[in-house]
Amino acid sequence: MLFPLQTLFYKFVMLITKIIMFFVPESKPTVLSGEGSSVRLTETISHFGLKKPLIVTDAMLVKLGVIDPIVDSLKEKGIEPVIFDGVEPDPSFDVVDAGLAALKQGACDSVLAIGGGSSIDAAKVMALAGSNDKSPRELEGKFVAKNPALPLFAIPTTAGTGSEVTVAAVITDKTDSSKKLVLDPKIVPLAAALDPRIMEGLPPHITAATGMDALTHAVEAYIATFATKETDAYAVAATRMIVSNLETAYEDGSNMPAREAMALGSFYAGMAFTKAFVGYVHAIAHQFGGKYHTPHGLANSLVLPHILEFSKDKINDRLANLAVECELGQRHEGDSVLAQKFIDRIWAMNEAMGIPKTLDALQAHDIPEIAKAALHEAHYTYPVPKYMDMNQCQALLRKLLPS
Ligand SMILES: NC(=O)c1ccc[n+]([C@@H]2O[C@H](COP(=O)([O-])OP(=O)(O)OC[C@H]3O[C@@H](n4cnc5c(N)ncnc54)[C@H](O)[C@@H]3O)[C@@H](O)[C@H]2O)c1
Ligand SMILES: [Fe+2]
Repeated sequence: MLFPLQTLFYKFVMLITKIIMFFVPESKPTVLSGEGSSVRLTETISHFGLKKPLIVTDAMLVKLGVIDPIVDSLKEKGIEPVIFDGVEPDPSFDVVDAGLAALKQGACDSVLAIGGGSSIDAAKVMALAGSNDKSPRELEGKFVAKNPALPLFAIPTTAGTGSEVTVAAVITDKTDSSKKLVLDPKIVPLAAALDPRIMEGLPPHITAATGMDALTHAVEAYIATFATKETDAYAVAATRMIVSNLETAYEDGSNMPAREAMALGSFYAGMAFTKAFVGYVHAIAHQFGGKYHTPHGLANSLVLPHILEFSKDKINDRLANLAVECELGQRHEGDSVLAQKFIDRIWAMNEAMGIPKTLDALQAHDIPEIAKAALHEAHYTYPVPKYMDMNQCQALLRKLLPS
């Protein structure tokens, strides 16, 4: 257990953050959704009078032809995009620097991200650096930039991060293998398209991991002490959509209603956590991503049930609500039983989608360092419902060691 004074200090830090957040202007993208919406977004770009967007994507999506109909549609409207396809999973500042150079060299007037969270996050920081007198690295932190970002648009190709709606971008710092946050309402895209068709070819294991990332956003936002009636409504809707549709999308990627529900669920989860924040699951997952390059969603799915088990006594009522909303049980069963049903459902989803219980890359001798970094990130950034100390965090991490 943490000393009461320490807990009080972290709660004070969170109170200051909450007060600051109150004054942060709200920013939401215009959203187009449904099959074909990714191509329709080009009309929006055209209405803005933009002529030369930098398309930020990854080489795999170019190879699969995912961006082709969007590029063709832009060209039909007299818009000449410059394509930067150098994004890698968990993009580093080097990737953002390279994209920014392409943006400047091509004299681009806007940025269009087409890809998963990695492409959207990299694009967000390129768009912000493109209009500010700061390098991408100098933009790390909260509300650092002075000027609005270049006009930014997003077409998510995974249903996971919700980055198309959030104030955050996560960039890997190769110098210390950590993940750095750029937090700013200026990086919320002007408009986004949630197109299930573009997610059709997403392989099952990525569908599973990214979908569990979205579920983690919804659940962490719902149990966070920053949660409000508004974020609760988004988080509950997202949780329902994801719990009811993720396994279907995993089993049959061409099931458009399931893909559409996942795209919406991921978006609403993003709406919830951009205001209510996340918690220990993300704090630990970021360390796995930075150190071992564990895919972000996979890292979250491994940690989520453990954190819920740890926090259960403080959030029984919240988890019970989620269980009832997801039709896993009925009110008369009582909070404790319902909360356990919700956690068990997460274990079952992981198992049904082949998500392992342990992390192969995890080394016992890394655990103290990972725990220290995770607790630092969580205690100074996230409004967690129950505080954890070093011993508790290390004990939790040891459960993830490969046997
Ligand atoms: N900004 C935020 O609010 C936020 C929130 C959570 C996570 N993140 C960050 O987002 C990143 C992870 O993003 P992600 O989970 O979406 O994965 P990703 O963008 O790294 O993509 C994962 C893989 O899926 C492939 N892929 C993507 N869409 C595809 C499609 N439609 N068809 C076939 N293949 C496809 C990509 O080529 C890539 O190899 C991490 O860096 C994480 O830290 C950001
Ligand atoms: Fe996430």
